[in-house]
Amino acid sequence: MIDHITVPALDETGFVVLDPYDQSRDPEEWLDLEYTVWRSSGVTRFAPLTSYAGEIECNGFWNHTPPRPDKDGVWIASQVERAAHLVRRAQEPGAGVGRCRVVELQRNEYADAVYNLHQDDNNRLNPEGTGWVVRAFFNLTDDSDSLLLLRRDRFDPSTELRIPLPAGSRVIVDTQRFWHAVWHRGDAPRYSLITSWESGPALEAYIRDHHGVPHTARVPLDAAMVEHAQRELHRRLEERRQTMAALGAAFVSPER
Ligand SMILES: [Fe+2]
Repeated sequence: MIDHITVPALDETGFVVLDPYDQSRDPEEWLDLEYTVWRSSGVTRFAPLTSYAGEIECNGFWNHTPPRPDKDGVWIASQVERAAHLVRRAQEPGAGVGRCRVVELQRNEYADAVYNLHQDDNNRLNPEGTGWVVRAFFNLTDDSDSLLLLRRDRFDPSTELRIPLPAGSRVIVDTQRFWHAVWHRGDAPRYSLITSWESGPALEAYIRDHHGVPHTARVPLDAAMVEHAQRELHRRLEERRQTMAALGAAFVSPER
């Protein structure tokens, strides 16, 4: 059976936390970029550094003609000029880069993040025998109270892992294995560099060199808040289903 090439370090749990790389004293790198409104998990804007053809837009490469997998992103010259350091960081492993962008996320509530949980679609059209696409999340701002939520089961909070996002935190996630979203508790927007990387020996060496650990400490949350968020999740999904049904459209969960 042919399969995709994966990285053993990610096979174990589906994510690794690397040692931090703090670039928070360098904010003009992301503040000077050109942002575009792109509806994702929460109130967001995106500054793409790569795209399907080098234009400033964020659509999945598979939505273009001809479609292609989330690989071989074309660097956007006007953005690269303003963010040489971010580009270097995305290229550092030497792994193939697909979509690469800075996301700006506004404050939200835990229940919003739970509703926003989604799985990515990075491996659509990805040919077997080539590298499985995973995603790197580099936190640029210092958001120590904010959490990257990862759930194996969308509806089961006991499967939830919570990774704090201080300045410089670096996490690589198989985002098709995990339902994921960020609970951002800061008043100022959170900025993060998100890069799609192709799995293979280069990424494996990078994870090893930066001491990737496939575990994270437990972060307990208030049980009543978690229960409230679960009720909200079901309520909002039902509300959405009814809205879509009224429009005669098929229910589409907020995935991307
Ligand atoms: Fe995602």
